[in-house]
Order: sequence, then structure tokens, then C-alpha cells
Amino acid sequence: MRNRVEVMHGVNFDVLERRSAEHYGGMSLRDLEVQVKRFARDLGVETTFWQTNHEGEFCERLHRAAERSDGLLLNPGAWTHYSWAIRDALEVAGVPAVEVHLSAVSEREDWRAVSVIADLCIGTVKGKGVDGYREALQMLKEAM
Ligand code: DQA
Repeated sequence: MRNRVEVMHGVNFDVLERRSAEHYGGMSLRDLEVQVKRFARDLGVETTFWQTNHEGEFCERLHRAAERSDGLLLNPGAWTHYSWAIRDALEVAGVPAVEVHLSAVSEREDWRAVSVIADLCIGTVKGKGVDGYREALQMLKEAM
């Protein structure tokens, strides 16, 4: 059964609870993961969670994504907006990916409206907080 989703968070998600509560809801990455696990269980999707603050590690994880997963739920944080290295690595990954952002990136600073990975993803969900992860899992479930 092709139902394994890897949820990959990028830079600064390890300190999510210390970041702007207005944009990120004041929750910790652990809180977020518990909630996403619940969504996944309801949808019959298996999830693994992974986070790094190191761009090269994020690229290496993408290189090997197909060994572990059938789909990727990506929130690369600020890297989304400028990391051509992550974009190139995502092209190598070879599994469907959905981009998700907790905050409404298109309605914040201009630089956040840019995503260098969006056209490689089957969908993007933004500005819906944790609920956006459910929507992203649903999209992946249909694509895997
Ligand atoms: C984010 C939005 C990014 O602009 C920001 O750099 C983050 C979080 C989000 O989930 O809303 O780190 O990806």
C-alpha cells in the first residue's frame, strides 16, 4: 500500500513555540506533529516527521525520499522563498510533494509570496494553520 508520507520541516521549526503566535499559533513542533498524526490516522495515511536547521541535510533527505516514503509534505520555512538547492533536490526526490505553510505567506512581506518549489509540488496550502496539513495530506493521499 502506497500511503507513507514524510512530513519535513525546515529551518526554525524546532523553536516554533517561540515564534510569532500571530502567524504560527504559539504551538510547538511537537503539538503540531500530534495534531497531524491525528489527521493522518483518520485518513489512513502513515506519517513520519523530520526537521532540520541545515539546508544541506534537507537536500540529502530529499535525495533519499523515495526509499522511505510515497509522498512528501513539505514546510521548508524561509528556505521556501530562496533555496534553489532545495528546489533542485526536490526534482531528484521522485515522489509527489505538497507545500504547506501555517501562515498566509502571500499576504505578508513580498519576499514571502515567492516560492521556488511551488511548481514542483502538486499543491500548496497556506494560511490555514494546522488544518492546512489535513488538506495537504488529503491531496497526497489522492496522488500516491
Ligand atoms: C512558514 C512561512 C515562512 O515564510 C517562514 O519563514 C516560516 C514558516 C509558515 O509555515 O507559515 O518559517 O513556512
